[in-house]
Amino acid sequence: DIESSLRPRKLSEYIGQDKVKETIGIFIKAALQRGEPLDHVLLFGPPGLGKTTLANIISNEMGVNIRTTAGPAIERPGDLAAILTNLQQGDVLFIDEVHRLSRTVEEILYPAMEDFALDIIIGKGPGARSIRLDLPRFTLIGATTRAGLMTSPLRDRFGVISRLDYYRPADLVVIITRSARILGVPINSDGAGEIARRSRGTPRIANRLLKRVRDYAQVKADGVINREVAVEALEFFEVDPLGLDQADRRVLTAVITKFGGGPVGLETIAAATGEEAGTIEDVYEPYLLQLGLLARTQRGRVATPAAYHHLGLERPEEKQLTL
Ligand code: ADE
Repeated sequence: DIESSLRPRKLSEYIGQDKVKETIGIFIKAALQRGEPLDHVLLFGPPGLGKTTLANIISNEMGVNIRTTAGPAIERPGDLAAILTNLQQGDVLFIDEVHRLSRTVEEILYPAMEDFALDIIIGKGPGARSIRLDLPRFTLIGATTRAGLMTSPLRDRFGVISRLDYYRPADLVVIITRSARILGVPINSDGAGEIARRSRGTPRIANRLLKRVRDYAQVKADGVINREVAVEALEFFEVDPLGLDQADRRVLTAVITKFGGGPVGLETIAAATGEEAGTIEDVYEPYLLQLGLLARTQRGRVATPAAYHHLGLERPEEKQLTL
């Protein structure tokens, strides 16, 4: 379908993340030359930057099957054992949100990753014994938004660790232009530039905004996305010039108007905004930090002078003196 056709299938079609792309390209080539499976790969970084896309590209370039699952979906050790014993030599097992695996499941993964073996305990009590089952050599690709939350025994078993970063607007322009071509949406470079600047450095958001601006352009204008239509549409959808949406601004506004600009703890912000603390930490905060609107201190989060300025709010006198 069209949705999945927006995702690049080959490394050469993958735009941006040049260092990651080049690094992984070398490892794929080397593994293919030796006729071996690729080492286990850990991809980390904020949501929407293409970790799943990259995992699919890797399996495609290696010419193997990919089995996709997620940390919270693997509830019991037996669930993981079933997946592992169904893999074929060289296959990719992609585990999204790999930091959310339970301890007992994680312990199955250690010998599987290291020795391609499954240790099964039979029986209970004094008569219990363990038998070792051989597994096909596979490649685990783990993805996480929080490498810091992973246990070090798990992290240490990945041979390749790659961090994805926010995309530059110029890269997003290429992605948006490519998506528009696939979707058959007429767009000019200024229109793509405007969407790119307001996409929080994130291809998933860029593609979503492209579709919403297309709808707006179709109904309110002549269907062509130029700068004027893009600006009008994005203002209508309340995506501001820095790409912040209502939820981002609610978080930032709460820090300023409810807690005097901070410092304030994550849980307190969560309670005041009705968002999950984890969502704030994974989704909203990284981009606010990147823009320099929010800062993390020992005592909590602080709104920076730039945040007051962006939201058009006045900073209290005493902050201006003490900061
Ligand atoms: N679509 C989403 N992410 C992409 C990327 N990095 N390159 C090309 N198209 C994409």
